[in-house]
Amino acid sequence: MQTDYRTIKKHFEKSMANYNKNAIVQDLTAQKMIEELVKISSDFDNILELGSGTGLLTEKIAKNLKFHNFYANDLIEKSQIYVEKYIPNARFFRGNALKIKPNVKMDLIISNAMFQWFDNFEKAITAIKNSIDSSGLLVFSSFLPNNFKQIREITGLTLNYKTEEEIKNTLKDLGFNILYCEKFSKDMEFKTPLELLAHLKNTGVNSLSEKTWTITKIREFCEKYSQKYPTPILTYCPIIFIAQLQG
Ligand SMILES: C[S@@+](CC[C@H](N)C(=O)[O-])C[C@H]1O[C@@H](n2cnc3c(N)ncnc32)[C@H](O)[C@@H]1O
Repeated sequence: MQTDYRTIKKHFEKSMANYNKNAIVQDLTAQKMIEELVKISSDFDNILELGSGTGLLTEKIAKNLKFHNFYANDLIEKSQIYVEKYIPNARFFRGNALKIKPNVKMDLIISNAMFQWFDNFEKAITAIKNSIDSSGLLVFSSFLPNNFKQIREITGLTLNYKTEEEIKNTLKDLGFNILYCEKFSKDMEFKTPLELLAHLKNTGVNSLSEKTWTITKIREFCEKYSQKYPTPILTYCPIIFIAQLQG
């Protein structure tokens, strides 16, 4: 599926008010990334966070890292308000992370639950690498091909998820040394398939489809889901990387 930034922006913008209380797995990956990062370094000159959203990761950065300058980016303008709640003097770049042009090199570029939206991962990392200082760190979480496997099985909708090997190879080919990698799987349980759909909506993930679902389509989904999975579950398969550009 080709990434449509307008759809992603529209869905995430709508989910912002409910995102933090629903984004359980995204909160876990943000927490794990910071925990592992501080074991390597917690003191930076210039940090850039890509896809800052409602500031779930920004808050943890503010609490756990030291830095001189903090830059944030998101497709959504409103993200700036969330970021400034935690880091008032942050500089914000609105727009596609691959198009922004910071005028300094970063010693840390960090991003939680966003890189899975890139449809050309290698091209994306090549663009991001341009803003990393020599020996700088790239820290991110993304998702593996079995993420939301139940949705893929029932609707055929999925993102172009990269495998662990593909991500590792791209990072190595582009001159990164992988300092840390961790993957895990987490099943979230819901009372009904409808509640599961609401969870996807509240975390902005309904961007998997560009069209708004009709009532008939929702009913069809719920019926198919109940037949296949008597207990509604949704499997998340996140992966975390800490990589260092070889200077
Ligand atoms: C799942 S949310 C994660 C938000 C936040 N990083 C967190 O830890 O919860 C993904 C965010 O990435 C943003 N996003 C997706 N693709 C983007 C891109 N190419 N450039 C900038 N922001 C992007 C979306 O607007 C959304 O706010």
